[in-house]
Amino acid sequence: MKSQRRALTIVLITMILATVTFAGCAPDSRSGASVSDADAKSAAPGESDEDAAADQDEAAPSVAVEWTAQSDCSICHGTEHSSFEDGQTGAFAHAQMADDCMACHEDEAALSEVHEGITMDAKPAKKLKKTEVGEEVCLSCHGDEDFAGATASSEVLVDSNGTVVNPHELPENEEHGQIVCADCHKVHSSTPRENAAQAVCVGCHHSGVYECYTCHE
Ligand code: HEC
Ligand code: HEC
Ligand code: HEC
Ligand code: HEC
Ligand code: HEC
Ligand code: HEC
Repeated sequence: MKSQRRALTIVLITMILATVTFAGCAPDSRSGASVSDADAKSAAPGESDEDAAADQDEAAPSVAVEWTAQSDCSICHGTEHSSFEDGQTGAFAHAQMADDCMACHEDEAALSEVHEGITMDAKPAKKLKKTEVGEEVCLSCHGDEDFAGATASSEVLVDSNGTVVNPHELPENEEHGQIVCADCHKVHSSTPRENAAQAVCVGCHHSGVYECYTCHE
């Protein structure tokens, strides 16, 4: 019981923190904000340290940056760079790639476009919007492994009818064909693959049953 209450407290604190964080992330156009604007914001009561730090970053002068594949990515993408040191992330097993971002983000032309006209105080993306890290990237190193065999007894994906599905051996159909490694194996975030995988399925199997056309057309 005690540990349950503790877990609940942690959940509540997390929710409060999340609310504060979201409030700090409300859509705005602060990338062009003046320095005094950002200073006022960082002094706002109730803001987390993290937000204040982010705002200070934003107070850096808007110096235009010429992006190349050889740029030091960590200057702007500190979160992704430090994810390689966090044992909870997919990046951790790839620590040797922490300074070789382009090994996975290999679409140099698209990235060059994404970074066109950015400044030092521009807000880095929290999601891939214009590029993707496709299955072929992962398979270029992991190609010889028998994933389906390795997870043959996995019970991570089980629906409310008790149907168990091997995450590496989904029934073949057009929709399943769009699912890639990184949908379940988050690289920079600490979302466990079990949770990410379950979320992928529920995205379409909205009723929690791994079927279609049984309840409606
Ligand atoms: C001067 C700061 C800066 C540097 C240096 C930088 N980036 Fe970015 N990056 C950004 C910003 C800002 C965005 C968001 C652009 C947008 O969404 O309009 C971004 C977006 C991205 C994205 C998301 C692309 C998408 O699909 O939306 C990736 C991936 C990325 N950067 C990788 C890199 C890599 C790899 C390097 C190093 C070779 C790098 N960046 C260097 C600022 C930077
Ligand atoms: C440049 C080569 C390379 C690329 C590209 C690469 N990996 Fe890896 N990966 C490795 C190495 C090396 C390890 C550590 C040794 C091992 O466990 O196989 C590893 C480990 C892993 C592990 C941990 C295995 C475990 O037992 O938990 C997973 C999962 C993984 N990679 C998935 C991916 C995914 C998903 C991608 C694509 C987004 C990817 N890898 C891209 C080389 C690579
Ligand atoms: C539908 C979600 C999903 C997809 C897509 C997926 N995986 Fe996995 N993968 C998982 C889950 C879940 C596990 C852990 C299963 C368990 O522990 O029961 C796992 C385990 C692994 C492991 C560790 C296996 C071991 O020996 O323990 C590796 C390596 C891996 N996946 C690589 C990949 C690569 C590479 C791809 C793309 C070709 C991929 N996965 C696609 C969900 C997925
Ligand atoms: C092992 C492959 C791999 C490497 C190496 C890698 N990334 Fe990523 N990156 C991904 C994948 C896959 C995503 C999609 C989101 C996820 O899985 O966390 C992503 C997402 C991103 C995004 C979008 C925002 C986000 O966090 O989701 C940025 C920006 C980014 N990466 C920058 C970098 C930078 C900078 C480096 C080097 C320090 C780097 N990546 C190294 C695979 C990789
Ligand atoms: C993009 C949407 C989408 C996603 C994501 C998705 N599915 Fe499906 N799934 C479908 C559709 C559509 C069908 C029915 C296809 C058909 O019968 O032609 C289906 C059918 C199935 C079936 C039944 C196949 C059969 O022949 O009886 C299983 C089992 C299943 N999905 C498991 C999963 C699991 C597990 C996941 C998560 C890893 C998942 N699906 C993710 C769309 C999706
Ligand atoms: C266990 C029963 C069940 C299964 C299996 C099921 N659905 Fe549904 N679905 C429902 C019900 C019930 C509704 C209506 C719910 C509502 O309107 O809130 C619905 C509504 C929908 C709607 C919205 C329809 C509309 O006209 O607004 C879509 C789209 C949909 N389902 C797609 C799917 C897909 C795709 C699959 C398979 C991946 C699937 N459903 C599997 C029960 C199911």
